[in-house]
Amino acid sequence: MIEQEELRNRPIGVFDSGVGGLTVAREIMRQLPNERIVYFGDTARVPYGNKSPETITKFSRQIARFLQTQDVKAIVVACNSASACALDALEEDVDIPIVDVVRPGAKTAIGATKNDKIGVIATAATIGSGIYSRYIKENDSDAMVLSKACPLFVPLVEEGLWEDPVTDEIARRYLAELIDVGIDTLILGCTHYPIIRSTIGRIIGEDVTLVNPAYETAMELKRLLQEKGLESEHRPGLGTELYRFFVSDAADKFQKFANSILTYGILSAKVINIDEY
Ligand code: DGL
Repeated sequence: MIEQEELRNRPIGVFDSGVGGLTVAREIMRQLPNERIVYFGDTARVPYGNKSPETITKFSRQIARFLQTQDVKAIVVACNSASACALDALEEDVDIPIVDVVRPGAKTAIGATKNDKIGVIATAATIGSGIYSRYIKENDSDAMVLSKACPLFVPLVEEGLWEDPVTDEIARRYLAELIDVGIDTLILGCTHYPIIRSTIGRIIGEDVTLVNPAYETAMELKRLLQEKGLESEHRPGLGTELYRFFVSDAADKFQKFANSILTYGILSAKVINIDEY
């Protein structure tokens, strides 16, 4: 039997196809400062959003297996595409708590909308799964959900074009129909999108509430850890590595990127061969 105290001190596993999940990791660091994190970014195989549900599920299962070798006490699927396509498979595979990013985002949007017109922007895989509109309609039958796949946003973010006329132009095209319908709430349904939040916000207009599921996801993680008695009670002592980062390729690029998103400077990112898992 593993002692509860030992379990509490284990890290949280967080994963995404690349750098997008760092927007969720950042929020976990803020809200749960005592928790250690093992982050995995699948930089060799990003993007996930244009791949089939079967492939996304296969990749997610490999990552969950890798994270378990790091003795994580819970897994945060910090990727909407993986949350949409692979959650059931992951819940079957692992017996530690799993938190996804879709349900917390849908819940926040329902609370935020006043005119019951909710927009969702996400990858083609997430939109194709229909998961956001399903969750929203199950909990708010009056809601009208307008979904739009924005496949070019992820490469624009990964290329660092966060404030760029090209990103502006593409955002204008993607968001036009959501503006026409008069949504008052927009879910950033891909963890890469908060990185270009100011562009999206400027174009959709200041009257539209932008929902970044990261905040609610970290809250949900906190709730779950408390419920299971798994919350780390103390900040790990000096000499303990608080955050560890793994990628499947191009560690230098990831590290540079992560340092511009996280206030905590990452020391290094290690490349692993994810196909071994
Ligand atoms: N950041 C991920 C998401 O939330 C995946 C983006 C991608 O790899 O296409 O969907």
